[in-house]
Amino acid sequence: MDVAAPGLAKATGRAPRPADPCTLVIFGAAGDLTKRLLLPALYNLAAAGLLSDAFTIVGVARADDSDNGFRGRMRAALQEFATDGVRPTTLDDLIGRCCYVRGDFDDPSTYQRLKDRLGEIARTSRTRDNCLFYLATPPGLFAPVARHLGEAGLAEARGGCWRRLIIEKPFGFDLASACALNKELLRSFSEKQIYRIDHYLGKETVQNIMVLRFANGMFEPIWNRHHIDHVQITVAETVSVENRGKLYDHTGALRDMVPNHLFQLLALTAMEPPGRFEAAAVRAEKLKAIEAIHPLTKEAIATDVVRGQYRAGHVNGKAVPAYRDADGVAPGSLTETYVAMRLVVDNWRWAGVPFYLRTGKALAARKTEIAIRFRSAPLALFRDMPVDNLAQNLLVLRIQPDEGAALHFNAKIPGPEIRIENVRMNFKYEDYFDAAPSTGYETLIYDCMIGDPMLFQRAVDIEAGWRVVDPILQAWRESDGRDLCLYEAGGDGPKAVEGLLAHTGQQWRPIA
Ligand SMILES: NC(=O)c1ccc[n+]([C@@H]2O[C@H](COP(=O)([O-])OP(=O)(O)OC[C@H]3O[C@@H](n4cnc5c(N)ncnc54)[C@H](OP(=O)(O)O)[C@@H]3O)[C@@H](O)[C@H]2O)c1
Repeated sequence: MDVAAPGLAKATGRAPRPADPCTLVIFGAAGDLTKRLLLPALYNLAAAGLLSDAFTIVGVARADDSDNGFRGRMRAALQEFATDGVRPTTLDDLIGRCCYVRGDFDDPSTYQRLKDRLGEIARTSRTRDNCLFYLATPPGLFAPVARHLGEAGLAEARGGCWRRLIIEKPFGFDLASACALNKELLRSFSEKQIYRIDHYLGKETVQNIMVLRFANGMFEPIWNRHHIDHVQITVAETVSVENRGKLYDHTGALRDMVPNHLFQLLALTAMEPPGRFEAAAVRAEKLKAIEAIHPLTKEAIATDVVRGQYRAGHVNGKAVPAYRDADGVAPGSLTETYVAMRLVVDNWRWAGVPFYLRTGKALAARKTEIAIRFRSAPLALFRDMPVDNLAQNLLVLRIQPDEGAALHFNAKIPGPEIRIENVRMNFKYEDYFDAAPSTGYETLIYDCMIGDPMLFQRAVDIEAGWRVVDPILQAWRESDGRDLCLYEAGGDGPKAVEGLLAHTGQQWRPIA
């Protein structure tokens, strides 16, 4: 067996065991997610020796195809999208485990054919009838497919096997639709069977936020309102909507990024230390952090939330047309491609510490980071000396692309005078760890196969996120759009966001 990828080693530090025997059923097996991310992730798991010897893939899609035809398509996809070179023996082995069931997801007979095929697999292989249903489908099909699986008796775990369901964001469109989706899913599957993927949580550096905070003695004592001035969480993208205009115009930056990715980063930063490093304890603390976000009133939304939309500009030297000129975008669209907000986490640890969140498209750089600005030193001891720049200490956790952490502090410039400059101690993951190239889905798929739900969100977590965001959606629906700030593509975002911090004397960190 090959050596396990270091990124997949669990909390014990021991090499992880291969996943449980199972069949992975992919609905939407002809789609982009399957080809670009799921299959390469499965290949990486196979190469790391982390799949069971009794593992099978069943692709379900509506094209008329055979097992062999499907295998050919999956082989070609892997050759195109693998994160690293492919070894012929691993490739052949994985492709040999694929089979195909044709059918429309709205047609009950598809599920009967699937049931027959799964019965045959259970009889002829050692998968123990364990099944992982991956819904790589348009979101509108999540509830119908789950219902059909339930009606066909496929959701039920009988005779010691397990049955699990994976869905991808978007988990609803607002609070009401998220609640309705959860209700629908829970008709056929129990909460314990549902794994809601936020692929951000598969990133090593996101998981490392917990390690940084709770495996080191030096951070936790100062991780509170007594020492922290404010927190800035940034998810900046250089990409514009490109050809996804039609879909994006109904979504926008707030729905797309905030209740999921940004709130997950906020929760990991703000949560209390869990009693144990296991799913129930970690998820409970993260939920408490989200639930502690002070509800935004209409007045607060007017002053503490900024929405923006990019106009034409240049990103990395390439001309980007205005959002409103993108294919599929309604003329005069008010959909935001940028959102920033000031939130307050109302609990004893964080009272009075603003959390500033921002995310946007067509910005000057691609970067995801959490910046923690500490309070000034209590005594201005050096006030009468030629101090160039007495900055507040800053800890920056870089999630992507340049993964690592940096601590900014003041140091004396060599020389007879006391002169002080802000310096940076920089840690880069790539300098220390030899991580195998990955899609970010490996850990998540593996965790589903071993039944570890720590990195997945429950219905209550999803609904808590939407509960914060819903009043903003409501306020924007009622607005005439004059609050939408245009910003130039390739810049740092709308000027108006500076107003969120201005009165504090603080500034946003530059994007690029
Ligand atoms: N792609 C990504 O990078 C990515 C990343 C994160 C999350 N996601 C999420 O993952 C899900 C899948 O995304 P995707 O990009 O793979 O979408 P996609 O390329 O459009 O694939 C969806 C697949 O579903 C199939 N399908 C749709 N309706 C069907 C029906 N009634 N019966 C049978 N098959 C049907 C389509 O089949 P046809 O080919 O026959 O039309 C298509 O192959 C979405 O929920 C998306 O939000 C995607």
